Amino acid sequence: MAKPEHLFDRAVEWDALVSFASRPGATARLGIVSGRRRMGKTYLLRAIVEQLGGLYFGATTATSGESLRQFGAAIAEHSGAEVPISFDTWDHAITYLFGLAARDHANSPFLVVLDEFSYLVKSVPELPSLVQREIDRYQTEPSGMRLLLCGSAMSVMGGLLASSAPLRGRAQLELVVQPFGFRDAAQFWGVAENPALALRLHAVLGGTPAYRRQFLADDVPASLDDFDQWLCRTVLSPLSPLFREARYLLAEEAEVRDTALYHSVLAAVAQGNNTRGGIAGYIGRKSVDISHPLAVLEDCRLLVREQDAFRAGKSVYRITEPLITFYEAIMRPAWVRLEDGQAQQVWARSRERFAAQVAGPHFETMCREFMLGDGIDLLGPEAEFGDVGCGIVPDPATRSQIQIDVAMTHPGDGGRKPAVSLLGEVKWGAIMGIGHTSRLSRARDLLAAAGWDVSRCRLACFSGAGFSDTLRNQQDDTAPPLLIGLDEIYGS
Ligand SMILES: Nc1ncnc2c1ncn2[C@@H]1O[C@H](COP(=O)(O)OP(=O)(O)OP(=O)(O)O)[C@@H](O)[C@H]1O
Ligand SMILES: [Mg+2]
Repeated sequence: MAKPEHLFDRAVEWDALVSFASRPGATARLGIVSGRRRMGKTYLLRAIVEQLGGLYFGATTATSGESLRQFGAAIAEHSGAEVPISFDTWDHAITYLFGLAARDHANSPFLVVLDEFSYLVKSVPELPSLVQREIDRYQTEPSGMRLLLCGSAMSVMGGLLASSAPLRGRAQLELVVQPFGFRDAAQFWGVAENPALALRLHAVLGGTPAYRRQFLADDVPASLDDFDQWLCRTVLSPLSPLFREARYLLAEEAEVRDTALYHSVLAAVAQGNNTRGGIAGYIGRKSVDISHPLAVLEDCRLLVREQDAFRAGKSVYRITEPLITFYEAIMRPAWVRLEDGQAQQVWARSRERFAAQVAGPHFETMCREFMLGDGIDLLGPEAEFGDVGCGIVPDPATRSQIQIDVAMTHPGDGGRKPAVSLLGEVKWGAIMGIGHTSRLSRARDLLAAAGWDVSRCRLACFSGAGFSDTLRNQQDDTAPPLLIGLDEIYGS
């Protein structure tokens, strides 16, 4: 079953869905599809229903009764009935749906997609139990039901399979539709030939598919020189739907009404105050007072907590959605001016902040992603997979700390010491030189003294701007530092 042309990437997701929906078998099966807003869940599921046939129902925010009427109409349309089926209750509707699958599709798969299931559950909380009852019933009676429940409120969708939830242990497929990776995003936007532009674009819009066509009607920066103008006419323009998108994302994803505290937390992280204590200090609250917003933001996957590679129990928070970082760092402080149409003036004064708070940290994340993917090959064919992260190496002699942007580590076990196989420094806008590698080798010595195995540890410089001649000339050494530029990272 070939993936349609218009569906970019998503080959793995497509295959998983096709196999779920078409594999023969006479018992009912359940799948859960989730993912943050605008990632292309509906696009993918509609494509699959178009190809395989079946019933698609997209719920809206509506009362239980209204949704029930819409559902009755959708089933009638699917079965070719002239008048909508009128259900008294959701119990009735779900029983009918499974009955239909058993009656007409006992021996062949029948794909049913309930999209925006999280909306439905909000007005019909008993829905998961009703589905569970029918799924269980059709484990012993023949049914071709292939039911996909899809939704974007991560808290609701994740909750469906939580330990005490009725659907726990019933799903044969759990698919999370993720943003495109940075290489795919560059292809999607048609800028893969221009890594410098692709990097900037990704630092602002990330890998969200909806932003290209649905939001910007294919307005893509024509060249690196056009990037500033493009920003001013899109994200920074009050006429563009992207202008308020970061705010909507927070309101919709986290389902929070009082967003002020949440924005302050995100602003703290965006500005580099990314430890729990740092966030609390930035917004002037006690650590315990920010536990709830942190938990909510983690739950809906807008924040992730990353463990320090070298110091057990230490961690930092990172914002997962680039547009939110961009909003908090660049737009929110200048909101009134931007609403007034002063995009050019605001952007002209934001370059440094963009470099320090948006593009720099974003490029570090990309470099870590690269090392989790193809980058491992740079360490040789024998290199073992390790954890990739960032961390801090304390330097007692100078009472300072060395920040390591990319580290690959391997946990110790039994007789084996923990090992580090890569220490890397990332600079997105600066030419890198000897100073960077000597800091890294100092960190390597300190780690060795602290009991790490550094015998296979390579040093690496990741630069978006290039490397000094002195650094390039060091390449004659036996184990020279790896110099990794945008071409390597983008595989171009
Ligand atoms: N794989 C893809 N290839 C091309 N375009 C895509 C792809 N996925 C998504 N899009 C674009 O993104 C838009 C938004 O996708 P879609 O509505 O499916 O997102 P969603 O995850 O269902 O969002 P929501 O949670 O808000 O319902 C689509 O209309 C389409 O333009
Ligand atoms: Mg959708």
